[in-house]
Amino acid sequence: MKVKILKKVETATDIFSFELVDPTGRPLPGFSAGSHIDVHVGNGLVRQYSLSNDPRDTHRYVLGVLRDPNSRGGSIAMHAQAEGAEIEISQPRNHFPLANEARHSILLAGGIGVTPILCMAERLAHVDASFEFHYCTRAPERTAFREQLMRPGMKDRVRVYFDTAPPEERIDLEAILADPDVDKHAYVCGPSGFVDAVLSRARNAGWPESNLHREYFSAQKGAIAGNSAFQVRLASSGRVINVRAEQTVVEALGACGIEIQTSCEQGICGTCLTRVLEGDPDHRDAYLTDEERTANDQFLPCCSRSRTPILTLDL
Ligand code: FES
Repeated sequence: MKVKILKKVETATDIFSFELVDPTGRPLPGFSAGSHIDVHVGNGLVRQYSLSNDPRDTHRYVLGVLRDPNSRGGSIAMHAQAEGAEIEISQPRNHFPLANEARHSILLAGGIGVTPILCMAERLAHVDASFEFHYCTRAPERTAFREQLMRPGMKDRVRVYFDTAPPEERIDLEAILADPDVDKHAYVCGPSGFVDAVLSRARNAGWPESNLHREYFSAQKGAIAGNSAFQVRLASSGRVINVRAEQTVVEALGACGIEIQTSCEQGICGTCLTRVLEGDPDHRDAYLTDEERTANDQFLPCCSRSRTPILTLDL
């Protein structure tokens, strides 16, 4: 659907917030905390951005977009958009929902990973649920959405940590995650190093996997140098296609005229999810759960590879 950029505000260094509304003033489809939308940012690129605003808002979606120095074009194209411009987006989808049964929630955000976490905090504050919110950023000027964090209901529950602070003022994950409980749920979003640090601390402390929820805002980078070639077989025709070491499965299939729909091309969004009928995928995505990976019957061909010489795909 088409939306209009009503406001574009620099909320921190290199971070703009975008307020999107229906061009005719109608309400937008509802969303739950943790949702994201696909945004057609321009130049044919589609990127996923989490909604950061209160899910009770019916007329707007608010995004926070970091200008990423390693951008493949998406964040630069989005930052180039101006107030008043109309852009195309998808309906909100949620792969990172709150667990309704939680009696206490621990929210952990790293950098621009604050966007879905802020939305969760808005929701939890509104229903007066028990929660704590830990937000790590590089420095005060790189801390997005500061005014929102200072609002009543929010400010007593938020603690912000800066990478530039002395060690004793940095986040103490061991203390925060020391006391797992069946009724406690932890949510983390941020760069892969931050998310992995939180998950590994939580696992060491005995947190059950079902109470740990994560969303990466960039996928872990696979070791491209160590990649090897393999083949994929198309179940419908028996055709075998070579995937070179420096190619993704999507690229190899595309070169043979077989298009797989993609969006993020980083193993985050799930758009390219494909069934695997035979063989052992080498999962490189940040989308599937550990149980789904272990089942080995589906993979994300935009980034994942194969541990076996050939993978048979349901194509
Ligand atoms: Fe997003 Fe493959 S295109 S996971």
